[in-house]
Amino acid sequence: MAKFLVENRGPLHGEVTISGSKNSVLPIMAATLLSDDECTILDVPALRDVEVMCEILESVGATVEKDYPSGKITIGAGNKLKNETPPDLVKRMRASILTMGPLLARDGSARAALPGGCAIGARPIDLHLKGFEIMGATIDYEEKQGYVIAKTDGRLHGGRIYLDYPSVGATENIMSAAALADGTTIIENVAQEPEIVDLANYLNKMGARVKGAGTDVIKIEGVEHLHGTTHHVIPDRIETGTFMVAAAITRGNVLVKNVVPDHVRPVIAKLTECGCVVEEEPEGLRVRGDVNQLVGTDIKTLPYPGFPTDMQSPFMAFLTTVHGVSTVTETVFENRYMHITELNRMGAGIMIEGKSAIVPGDAKLHGAQVVSTDLRAGAALVLAGLTADGQTEIAEIRHIERGYSEFAEKLKGLGASIERVEN
Ligand code: UD1
Repeated sequence: MAKFLVENRGPLHGEVTISGSKNSVLPIMAATLLSDDECTILDVPALRDVEVMCEILESVGATVEKDYPSGKITIGAGNKLKNETPPDLVKRMRASILTMGPLLARDGSARAALPGGCAIGARPIDLHLKGFEIMGATIDYEEKQGYVIAKTDGRLHGGRIYLDYPSVGATENIMSAAALADGTTIIENVAQEPEIVDLANYLNKMGARVKGAGTDVIKIEGVEHLHGTTHHVIPDRIETGTFMVAAAITRGNVLVKNVVPDHVRPVIAKLTECGCVVEEEPEGLRVRGDVNQLVGTDIKTLPYPGFPTDMQSPFMAFLTTVHGVSTVTETVFENRYMHITELNRMGAGIMIEGKSAIVPGDAKLHGAQVVSTDLRAGAALVLAGLTADGQTEIAEIRHIERGYSEFAEKLKGLGASIERVEN
């Protein structure tokens, strides 16, 4: 088991280049199963979750050629595919459920173990299944084995689907399945995240007819056949936000390159409210935490374009270091405060009151032995370690490596002290 040893080396300075988006590439990789032709994806980040998705695609019979140094993956799904993804892989990553829609639409059935991933709440898949049912699938559970099976006689058909919550994964799974359905599908109250737009753009390049991605209603006219294509994934907005906060928490001055500023508006707004200076430059976003005295603010996580739940824990680490009290309210996931125990070991003094966390601010963080309980919680602890007195030892960094490409190397490039050691 590897861990990170982090020490405070003062403000971060310099430039960092953001990788392709984890949350874009995973649904796009799953959607390659919709075509018999080869598809090429570019700007793929080198991540554990991408590795797991490669293994899942291979396990159903696709061929995967990886060229990580150049960020290129070519996937061929011309063979007869298996309709089932192995439970050991599915349990390692919740996004594995995104193969269900493409397999169901292509071959009429998909059997999946109930998914795993970060331990941040119940995370059901009822909305995904509701969509498949409206498109003509029957859903059965093998409760003892923990499987769910979706089946259809012939092609899925179009339908009108209202999502009770704008779930990112459900929007993606249903949109991909509807691309090959017979007739028109309208999905209402959909997620509007940039990753939804990226997937829609990718599907349209394959020959799909998807309209409205990025708004709250998506209309998909099903087609009979999708062809191969090549697609660049968008930059990772959560990695972008994490490095912006790294600059702020160390009171540094960092240019974050390969970013889409519109995708990180809530992070820009909240850093600015705290007194940071964020400027758009031709090559990216410059974040300065060294200009003003920084003060607290309130955060409430919401579906896009609200403040992203994935930035909640890194931002909370930052709020512990500024002057004055802040309140953080998590509304997207029910159990996403596990980092608080760990930040409190470092002297943060955060209290939980219902769905909110009260962050007193003005903390003098000190190094401690802490555990990365999920992907973003782990990133939060690394950021806290960059500003704490003494050494912070972060265990279970496998979670961090699921979603941050070369995290330690990129931080070192900005002057941080962070070492990866094997236990
Ligand atoms: C995706 C992101 C994850 C991010 C999350 C919210 C990927 C690979 N992961 O996860 O990083 O934190 O969006 O922005 O893109 N829900 C239901 N029923 C469902 C589906 C979801 O009740 O069928 C609930 C979940 O329990 C959760 C909320 O909806 O409380 C949001 O989940 P969802 O938007 O589906 O997140 P993911 O797609 O899993």
